[in-house]
Amino acid sequence: MTPVTPLLGRDELVRQVSALRWFHRIDLGQGVVTPGLDDTPAKLDRVRLPADLRGKSVLDIGAWDGFFSFEAEKRGAARVMAVDSFCWNGGGWGSKAGFELARRALNSKVEDREIDVLDLAPETIGAFDVVLFFGVLYHMRHPLWALEKVSSVTKSHLILETKVDLLSLNAPAMAFYVGDELNHDPTNWWAPNISGLCDMLRAVGFRRFEITSKPAPWLYRWIRALRSNGSVWRESQRGRVSLHAWK
Ligand SMILES: C[S@@+](CC[C@H](N)C(=O)[O-])C[C@H]1O[C@@H](n2cnc3c(N)ncnc32)[C@H](O)[C@@H]1O
Repeated sequence: MTPVTPLLGRDELVRQVSALRWFHRIDLGQGVVTPGLDDTPAKLDRVRLPADLRGKSVLDIGAWDGFFSFEAEKRGAARVMAVDSFCWNGGGWGSKAGFELARRALNSKVEDREIDVLDLAPETIGAFDVVLFFGVLYHMRHPLWALEKVSSVTKSHLILETKVDLLSLNAPAMAFYVGDELNHDPTNWWAPNISGLCDMLRAVGFRRFEITSKPAPWLYRWIRALRSNGSVWRESQRGRVSLHAWK
């Protein structure tokens, strides 16, 4: 996807990149990688994005700087749409400027729509072969409703990455966060355990699941929890999961 003739010279690209705050680490070519807060390459490994997306339509919900949209395009997707609302509208510490600069630097054709998860509908944006929903579910006040909307624009294959909690409970359960209890971020509301997550996905039409990345084993989580400032039991219950779901 690196253009033969870069649209921006290296010095100008470096200047524009350093003027922004980045969430994703995106390789823009010419030896320039955006200094994102997120370890995006590690997340890419965990989510197991298909290596070959040729001919597929892909929707990236909560795209922010767009790393995963550009990666889907690089892997041959016929059409990619990036959607976001909160950060793109200035609600967070980032903005849409990173996405726009990266799209320009990569000479990318990724489409964009500023739309809230709860406004996703096949009538307005269509339905997509592969839908990415990474790092957004715990930001939803109404997670089951959000998954219903995500399902409505998914033809078949959803790839989801999220925070999970209450990991020692086998029965489906979901933790609710008061104030900024989770990661000091008041925009975090809920995290299910893995069984609760799969049950919610079943309730919105998904039938088959493959977990591609599980939370760390309990001993590691307990050691991490003992070193944290919060409640040791609550901290020990938390982790992240990535899964693929099919209808
Ligand atoms: C933690 S970031 C995840 C970014 C990216 N998907 C990733 O995994 O690296 C959460 C993203 O979800 C977006 N978001 C939060 N609430 C949203 C909503 N109600 N509708 C659309 N996007 C939302 C934020 O703007 C932000 O870009």
